Amino acid sequence: MATEEKVADHLLTDLHVKYIQSLDHRKEDLEYWLTEHLRVSGLYWGLTALDLMHHRDALPRQEVIDYVVSLQREDGGFGGHLHHDSHLLYTLSSIQILITLDAINAIDIDKVITYIANRQNTDGSFTGDVWGEVDSRFSFVAVAALSLLKRLDAIDIPKAVEWILQCKNYDGGFGNRPGSESHAGQAYCCLGFLAIVDGLHYVDTDLMAWWLCERQLKNGGLNGRPEKLEDVCYSWWVLSSLSILGRVSWIDKEKLISFILSAQDPDLGGIADRPGDMVDVFHTVFGVAGLSLLGYEGLKRVDPVYCMSAEVIERIGLEPKYSL
Ligand code: FPP
Ligand code: ZN
Repeated sequence: MATEEKVADHLLTDLHVKYIQSLDHRKEDLEYWLTEHLRVSGLYWGLTALDLMHHRDALPRQEVIDYVVSLQREDGGFGGHLHHDSHLLYTLSSIQILITLDAINAIDIDKVITYIANRQNTDGSFTGDVWGEVDSRFSFVAVAALSLLKRLDAIDIPKAVEWILQCKNYDGGFGNRPGSESHAGQAYCCLGFLAIVDGLHYVDTDLMAWWLCERQLKNGGLNGRPEKLEDVCYSWWVLSSLSILGRVSWIDKEKLISFILSAQDPDLGGIADRPGDMVDVFHTVFGVAGLSLLGYEGLKRVDPVYCMSAEVIERIGLEPKYSL
């Protein structure tokens, strides 16, 4: 755990690499078992952090591919871990991992397209799985996955856009469903969605960027909604949104860099939600990705829509959908 006496002033790359490598061997930790349902997302977060730090090979490539391939279910979707039911979130993480490792042909792509297309409702929204929860997150996840697979034609895009626009609020932000309060996580999802489907003209850029830059607090950290505490993961949800809008300069970059660095564990690696808390791989990737968006030296550029290295997005021939 980070202590007040020892605060790192630079990115502890080697320690973070070791921390991520150690995650799969911590089977004695309660947290390992509590997070079993999202194991493949954990793998995506770890691999992406490693990739951005130029250490993609720190995980055993073939083992990772074999594991992800084993998660594809009969319905075409991917579960969070062995024998778990399919969910859109884990389907996107699986696709992101395989594309990062240049191994997407290892899975049945037509089947996964069918799974994703089947999640769309007649009003244009998406359910995360067969049980029916609707959320703007799932609209983003569906189009991000289809776009990575170059199969956006598999769904009704105009209907999907119509539904997302109903989640837009008067303060410039977006909620998880029509009428829900604005939240920075949903800002990222809805902007990422609109960027992918070429719909950014539906957004009032300055109004939304104003709501987003007001998320920065005096200590440099960003929160997800008014009156909430700062949290390193919002260095991603808020900053990627500002990046898609071309307004990263609206926040104090140096203060945010210092805040992210101060949330590192200076002994064992990893990044926490805020200084002094326990680290986890979720906050580690979003801290590293946030630093990348801030132009931190020695990191690969991250794509603000897909949260994968820009190099991978360029390799598969997708156009960057944002202005820096
Ligand atoms: C806040 O979560 C974040 C969100 C609501 C957005 C989550 C988006 C995805 C899972 C889509 C896939 C993401 C990527 C990077 C490809 P929270 O539940 O921690 O919010 P809280 O801080 O209000 O508790
Ligand atoms: Zn967080």
